[in-house]
Amino acid sequence: MRTGDSVGVDITILVGTMTGTAEMVAQEVQQALESARHHATIQVMDNLDASVFAPGGTFLICTSTYGNGDVPDNAQALFSSLETERPDISNVTYGVIALGDTTYKDTFCQGGKRFDKLLTELGAKRAGEMLMHDASSGTLPEELAAQWVVPWVERHLAPLEQA
Ligand SMILES: Cc1cc2nc3c(=O)[nH]c(=O)nc-3n(C[C@H](O)[C@H](O)[C@H](O)COP(=O)(O)O)c2cc1C
Repeated sequence: MRTGDSVGVDITILVGTMTGTAEMVAQEVQQALESARHHATIQVMDNLDASVFAPGGTFLICTSTYGNGDVPDNAQALFSSLETERPDISNVTYGVIALGDTTYKDTFCQGGKRFDKLLTELGAKRAGEMLMHDASSGTLPEELAAQWVVPWVERHLAPLEQA
């Protein structure tokens, strides 16, 4: 969507983080979206459960990976609520920004990958490919994500909103 072609897209960014990087990424992504006349709301995953997806719509999962390829502590309750309740969330479209480190080569970005697999199993549709950031790459995740997000929306989501 080019500026002026249509209204922007509404996105809820759900943040799974241990030390705050994913939240900083979400803030930069929100700014990039707002600058492109889209609308983004950030919710950290603490205290969320599966009901956050009940209204449907467009979500961006922005999460790091910890432990042995686990989602961060603040994402555990949401993740297990989805796993146990297994709601039908076929009214959800989502993207994933996964933060990780290739030092953990067997579990690289597994937190984001686990959300991706579970949301797809529950009927949600992923738009485009996941963005994966490697903390060992020398690039900044917030810069990478801010550059990635508007083209991602315009390629994969704006056409859906206009349909
Ligand atoms: C104790 C620890 C365990 C980690 N485990 C993994 C892992 O299994 N896979 C991975 O890709 N990254 C792993 N990471 C890297 C983090 O996911 C990465 O640094 C991320 O940018 C941190 O984001 P956050 O501050 O939002 O939590 C680990 C980092 C730490 C400190």
